[in-house]
Amino acid sequence: MAHRILVLYGSYRSDRKGIRLADYVVAGLGKRGDDVELIDAKAVGLPMLDRMYKDAAPGSAPPAMESLAAKVRGADAFVFVTGEYNWGMQPGLKNLTDHFLEEWFWRPAAIVSYSAGRIAGARSGMIWHGTLSEMGMVVISSTLAVGPIEQVLNAQAQPLGDLGLRLDRDFVRFADDLAWWTEAAKMQRARKPPPY
Ligand SMILES: Cc1cc2nc3c(=O)[nH]c(=O)nc-3n(C[C@H](O)[C@H](O)[C@H](O)COP(=O)(O)O)c2cc1C
Repeated sequence: MAHRILVLYGSYRSDRKGIRLADYVVAGLGKRGDDVELIDAKAVGLPMLDRMYKDAAPGSAPPAMESLAAKVRGADAFVFVTGEYNWGMQPGLKNLTDHFLEEWFWRPAAIVSYSAGRIAGARSGMIWHGTLSEMGMVVISSTLAVGPIEQVLNAQAQPLGDLGLRLDRDFVRFADDLAWWTEAAKMQRARKPPPY
């Protein structure tokens, strides 16, 4: 059965490169039969938020936040595509993520990091790991670390050369692991509905 998966990406830069990786992940999961949607923080266009979704009076959250809340609640799993700015997180994705909480609970999350260099955003991936755990997601141990991003994927999100081949190979195991945890969490939610 198709899993409903959100792929979240959060660079606001005009020349952003990580969108290639987000598109690659969306296409790869889609080919496996999942029902996948890209949540591009820049396109969602939330302002710098000043209140958690749950603390907003019914109907008073920004419309984009309201529709995103429904998507997060309805998803079976999440993939966070995370770039690295000065060894840290990209603020657009953090702003979008932080202002939900219970909406994320009881589902697995996977981290796909990237950067312009060979460290491939690993430092930001590590930071996201703790954050997503704190927010009630089960972070799977399989990750993808992609770099230098422009040597791995072209502007059409197609794999390039040996590094691209390697990404294609690693993606299979990554997606298999995510599917396993997605299914496990889905079965458990059906067997024992979450208390909150
Ligand atoms: C403000 C800023 C800080 C950056 N800091 C890092 C860094 O700490 N480590 C790294 O590997 N690359 C760093 N880079 C390079 C990024 O990995 C590269 O620009 C990447 O394409 C950013 O993702 P984006 O294009 O999707 O915005 C930085 C880039 C910017 C714009």
